[in-house]
Amino acid sequence: MSDPNDLAAFLDLGWQRLTRGVADRRAAARHPVFATVSPDGAPEARTVVLRVASRAQGTVEIHTDGGSDKVTSLRSNPRAQLMVWDEKAKLQIRLSTYVTIHQGAEVADRWKNVPEGSRIAYGASPTPGTPIPTAQAYTKVASLEWFTVLSCRIDAIELMQLIEPHRRAVFLRADGWIGAWRVP
Ligand SMILES: Cc1cc2nc3c(=O)[nH]c(=O)nc-3n(C[C@H](O)[C@H](O)[C@H](O)COP(=O)(O)O)c2cc1C
Repeated sequence: MSDPNDLAAFLDLGWQRLTRGVADRRAAARHPVFATVSPDGAPEARTVVLRVASRAQGTVEIHTDGGSDKVTSLRSNPRAQLMVWDEKAKLQIRLSTYVTIHQGAEVADRWKNVPEGSRIAYGASPTPGTPIPTAQAYTKVASLEWFTVLSCRIDAIELMQLIEPHRRAVFLRADGWIGAWRVP
């Protein structure tokens, strides 16, 4: 490894690993944990697929079913964290984000690009999380009506790397991503 004190190179590594997650189904960043806060204040974490990672805009994008609990939670508290553990790079990536919810005509173009076989993930009757008497007592709807894009504006990136000695840094949108070291 080059200079371990090079903050800019550390941030480059974080973005490389993130963007790989969008392009490569086997990359660790393909499946971040996405954590929100429920309307009654409880933490909720679940696995999602990373659909877009834009370093230029400092955003990532998740696609979901508009009837899912996470959407209700984001309406009451739009702050969410994404977390990736990338074992190959020995790197934990935490993104603190502010999420905007996009549906309907706004996302019709993106819906056209969702492969037929994947559309089934968006829409269920009754809605996701509803108690049902047997495992298969639901139908899939697969419609634009439920397709929901979560656009996550990254406000902070925290990187923690388990090389020896460990290193950890925080990069903030508010100060132009200059970054600062933290005790790991
Ligand atoms: C590998 C994997 C990938 C997943 N990808 C997504 C996804 O991209 N979007 C999504 O909404 N749920 C995805 N899920 C399902 C979520 O983990 C979760 O069960 C579901 O969204 C309901 O969450 P909620 O009730 O907290 O809203 C995925 C689950 C797994 C195991």
